[in-house]
Order: sequence, then C-alpha cells, then structure tokens
Amino acid sequence: MRRKIVAANWKMNLTLPQAKELALRLNTWVKIHKPVAEVFIAPSHLYLEQMNKDLRNSSITIVSQNVSAMPNGAYTGDVSAEQLLSVGTKTSIVGHSERRAYHHEVNKYIGKKITHLYENQMSPILCVGEKLEDRESGKHFDVVREMVSVALERQSSENLKQNLIVAYEPVWAIGTGKNAAPDQVQEMHSFIRKIIGEQHGLQVAHNTTILYGGSVNAGNASDLFDQFDVDGALVGGASLDFDEFTAIISARK
Ligand code: 13P
Repeated sequence: MRRKIVAANWKMNLTLPQAKELALRLNTWVKIHKPVAEVFIAPSHLYLEQMNKDLRNSSITIVSQNVSAMPNGAYTGDVSAEQLLSVGTKTSIVGHSERRAYHHEVNKYIGKKITHLYENQMSPILCVGEKLEDRESGKHFDVVREMVSVALERQSSENLKQNLIVAYEPVWAIGTGKNAAPDQVQEMHSFIRKIIGEQHGLQVAHNTTILYGGSVNAGNASDLFDQFDVDGALVGGASLDFDEFTAIISARK
C-alpha cells in the first residue's frame, strides 16, 4: 500500500515561537485524532533541530524545504544532506517551483540533490509542475516528463522503490486560490506514475507516493483525494492555519 501523506510547506513564514506553537498544537491534535494520513511539516531550516527535539516522540515527520546539490565545502548559505541528517532530518523537498524560479534550479541540478539525499540514506520529495504558459500551449506533459525523468535518471531503482515521494504542483495553482481540477490532477498523476514505470519499472511506479500541491484547502481536499493516483497533498498557505490544515488532514481517508 502506498503511503498517504499530508505535508505542510511553511515556506519562509513563522517566527520560532510561532512555529513551535503551531507544531505542538498539531502534535496534540494528531495524538488525539490519529489520522489515516502521515503528517509532515517543512519549517525553516533554522528550526529543524529544535522541532525535531520538540516532536521527538511524535508521529509527525519534520522535513527540510531544500538541500544543497553539493556534499560539503565552500558553498556559503547552503545546507548539506549530511548536515540535515545530523539534526535528525531524513527527508527534504527538492525542486520546488519557487527554488526553480528564484534560484534558477534546473532538472539536472535537482537530480544531484536527490543523489546526495540517497547517499546519506535520506529521501526526497521531488516537486514538479508546469507553468501556465506550458499548459496553455499544450506542453504540460512534455515539461513534467522532462522534470521527472531528468531528476530520476541517475538514481538507483532500489533507492526509489524504498522511498520516493513526488509532488505535482502546477505553478499556476500555487498561492493563487485556483487549484487544478481533480480530473486534471488525476490525469497528470497517472502520467507521472507511467513515466516512472517506464524509467524504473512498475514496482517503483506503484510504490511512489504522489502528492498534489497548489491551493489545497479544507473545501477542495476531499475531491482531490478521491482521485485514484492522488496519495496526499503538499500544502502551502492553508498549512499555516491550524483549523484549515487539520481539516485537510482529516479529509485524507
Ligand atoms: P499553496 O498551498 O499556498 O498554493 O502552496 C503550495 C505549495 O507550493 C506547497 O509546496
């Protein structure tokens, strides 16, 4: 059975006291409600160590928003996979569209990040998704195929089979309040699974958890989760609101 995951991407939001308070509230809620979905939180890098300590005995997993493509060395401001692991973080988001847009990250470079994660027995949440102009010109499948296949081409199928999460996040749906329609999401998730199958075999494709991200909220989550290839969600804005986020978690049956 594929993992069902609802993940919060807090992006560059919340101070340390605010982050601690929200994480502890969520932790209490998860203990009481025992949701079907696993809950992930991606706070600022600055808070990873503290939050891993605060949520030591929790079922919530703390993940990183990014990782360096380099193993270590003179890369001012970057954080390596090994450093993340040393503060107890075993999973990192890679290739988020905001990293691609504002830091010019490209597919091969994102693939290197994934390689470093696996070298440290860690695992990626690989974000992919087309821009509005790609969809309007009918290039969305080609763009997503390239994002998935280049990032995964150098990875071992054995690593991917153990632990691969992909998040489909169409750029036009992120932070816009306009989520992709459930049938558009299903169509792209099943396409992503097909590409992974062609590249790494059916078992890897079958085991891969595919999340949807882009304006997920309490009102649209269950229609998205009803889709066969939607295993969960990667939530930005709505994950900063306790009531919204817990409603999204509850919707993942
Ligand atoms: P929003 O939920 O704010 O649209 O953000 C989605 C996202 O980018 C999650 O990584």
